[in-house]
Amino acid sequence: MVDLLSLQKYFILSHLGEGHRAVDFTMGNGHDTEFLSKTVGPGGQVTAFDIQPKALESTAKNLREWGCPENWRLICDSHHNAINYIDGKIKAGMFNLGYMPGSGNKALTTMRETTLPAVENALTLLDRDAILMVAVYPGHPEGALEGEELQKYFATLSRYKLCIAKFQMVNSPTSPYFIIAETK
Ligand SMILES: C[S@@+](CC[C@H](N)C(=O)[O-])C[C@H]1O[C@@H](n2cnc3c(N)ncnc32)[C@H](O)[C@@H]1O
Repeated sequence: MVDLLSLQKYFILSHLGEGHRAVDFTMGNGHDTEFLSKTVGPGGQVTAFDIQPKALESTAKNLREWGCPENWRLICDSHHNAINYIDGKIKAGMFNLGYMPGSGNKALTTMRETTLPAVENALTLLDRDAILMVAVYPGHPEGALEGEELQKYFATLSRYKLCIAKFQMVNSPTSPYFIIAETK
């Protein structure tokens, strides 16, 4: 069985390669930042955002331990402000919504009020032949609402500019799912 994580990587790797620029909009402990950093290699650039200083500490330590090239920049700010830090276009962006794994602090989950503008802004950063991936966790109330709002928003966007698809287990509606938006 193909798991959702492998499927996410498959789609991202169809657009992202060596020397490219990418953004991790929800850094957490840095697993997605690691994936992006190793994919773009020493000639690429990865910028990652989180609102929790401890996410930056944990990610910096992890990226060094995991042997990532020195191509990353960690920023302590909300992802809806990301456009203030990114110069030029990106080939891939990742949102892994929800709260930091292992932190126990569910109050610091991503919230519709900032997730929606963050996703909207992120789409403006996409280069041609680029991808934005948003993983949604509908198993908690804010996650379910976040997913509904995102889907309503994505449904309004032109199919001539973006190809938008959703991947969800039909027989497990509270399991995580993801949405990808690909530019032409
Ligand atoms: C599910 S975790 C991300 C997991 C992470 N990608 C990893 O690989 O470990 C979601 C993260 O989003 C962060 N977050 C919540 N609101 C945010 C915001 N407005 N801007 C940026 N990050 C935010 C949380 O602090 C949390 O660390």
